[in-house]
Formats: sequence, C-alpha cells, structure tokens
Amino acid sequence: MASQITDGYNYEGKLALVTGSTSGIGEYIAKTLSELGATVIINSSKSKDRGEELAASLKNASYCQGDISDHSQILKIVEYVKSVGPNLDILVNNAGITHLISHSDLEAANVDVWKDIFSVNVFGTWDLTVGLMPYLRASNGVVINISSIAGIRPTGSSIPYSVSKAAINQMTKLLAKTVGPEVRVNAVAPGLVETPWTKDWGPAKDIAKSQTPLNDVASPKDVTELVLGLISSRFVTGEVVLVDGGWNLR
Ligand SMILES: NC(=O)c1ccc[n+]([C@@H]2O[C@H](COP(=O)([O-])OP(=O)(O)OC[C@H]3O[C@@H](n4cnc5c(N)ncnc54)[C@H](OP(=O)(O)O)[C@@H]3O)[C@@H](O)[C@H]2O)c1
Repeated sequence: MASQITDGYNYEGKLALVTGSTSGIGEYIAKTLSELGATVIINSSKSKDRGEELAASLKNASYCQGDISDHSQILKIVEYVKSVGPNLDILVNNAGITHLISHSDLEAANVDVWKDIFSVNVFGTWDLTVGLMPYLRASNGVVINISSIAGIRPTGSSIPYSVSKAAINQMTKLLAKTVGPEVRVNAVAPGLVETPWTKDWGPAKDIAKSQTPLNDVASPKDVTELVLGLISSRFVTGEVVLVDGGWNLR
C-alpha cells in the first residue's frame, strides 16, 4: 500500500547527531530532523554561541561543542551522546573543511594542507563514526556522510579536498559492508550548495548553473531531502548519491 511508503521512518523518539550543524547544510538537516520529531544534538568546533542559540530555538535539541579532528574531543562527544542516549539512531557526518587552491598550483597544496583537510574530513569522520558504532548498532542506526561531487568527478575547491571526499566515498562503502545488517551507511554528494561556505563563490556558481541541466545550484533543503530519503530507505546501504542537478553530466 502506498500509504505504508510514506510511513517509512518514524523520527519520534529517535536520537540524531549532526556534526558541523551551526551553519549551512548541517544546520538545515538538524532543524529538519527536529521538526520531524527527533531529538537532535547540534555540534561544531568553534561556534558555541550559535550552537547554543540554535539548540534553544529547536524542540528537543542540545548543543555539544567538539572538534572532530581532536581525539580527546571525540571522546567528549561520544560521552555526551551516551548521556542523552543511551543509543544513537542517526549520525550525519557533515562537518568538513577545505582550502581554496587552484588545482594547477601544486606547491600550494602542500602536505600541511593535506593533513589539515584530512584531519577533519577523513580522520575525524572515521574516529567519530567508530566511537559511536556500538550505540548505532544497538539501535539499528543509520549513518549519512556528507561527501561532494568533488569526490566523484575531478573537480572541487582543491585537490586535497577532492581526494578527502573520494576517501569518504570509499569509507562509506567499506563501512556499509562491515557494519551491516545492524547499521546502514550511505553518502550524499552535493554539487555547489548555497551556504556560508560558498557565499563568495559568485563566478563559480554562475558557471555551475550554466553547465547544469537543471540550471541551478543546490540549496541546503535539496541536500536534506536526499538525506531523509536515505534515512528512510531500509534496503539501501553503501551508496554515494549525487544531488547536483545533473552537473556531473557536463
Ligand atoms: N557548500 C557546498 O557547496 C558543498 C558542496 C559539497 C559538499 N559540501 C560539504 O557539506 C558539508 C557542509 O558544508 P557547508 O557548505 O554547509 O559548510 P559551512 O556552512 O561552512 O558549515 C560547516 C560547519 O562545520 C563545522 N565544522 C568545521 N570544522 C569542524 C570540526 N573540526 N569539528 C566539528 N565541526 C566543524 C562549522 O562550525 P565551526 O567552524 O564552529 O566548527 C560549521 O558548523 C561539508 O562537509 C562540505 O564538504 C558542501
């Protein structure tokens, strides 16, 4: 019956952690999960005031400051989740950083840049996911990694950033293979999205719009709709799904 399809996921009573949720895509996902009835943990590394303000404005939400690139702060986040828990139903690994470097400027993409980007996008995502896996397993939870078209196509704000997102994509598949049947792991790979991250990227947005079959860039809402679809699709795991208006077809 079609009515059963719309009942795919009941957010009431579920606990969700969205990393990097004081801004942009993560903020929109956190707000939506709260509106749908989930208890939501907001997270960021620096923007504490914004996180507390956002949590206070939402139903059943709280803020946990923690830099996912720092193992001691990962332990703090895991303890916090357990204290709200006891288990975790939804983990959205959204926190990410980049350095804006032309791909042709090989020297500028030095090893320190690689380490900085990987410390958050790859190592931090891995560290937190592993730390929370027992609590995800206990609730038959779901992990959504926010990747990028840059992890699929040879594009993106710098080569180290693109490679970090390619690593997330492979991590998504390998984890899905390993932690099923208890936990599902999928990734969402947006094209350009209107967020504070891209607020000064006017020319890039114009190019993306002109090259994209749907003639637009994504909004955080577009990304969130796909995140919700993957949360509720009980037989989908290990997938990396583009939300790019067809930009990858160019
Ligand atoms: N915008 C795009 O066009 C686009 C396209 C494809 C993919 N993405 C991906 O989407 C995700 C979100 O991007 P966005 O555009 O929404 O970015 P954004 O508006 O800059 O938000 C980034 C969020 O991550 C937090 N954060 C950064 N480093 C962190 C750390 N070490 N630990 C915990 N939180 C951290 C930031 O807060 P603090 O600074 O206070 O920590 C902020 O809340 C990223 O993974 C990005 O790679 C974005």
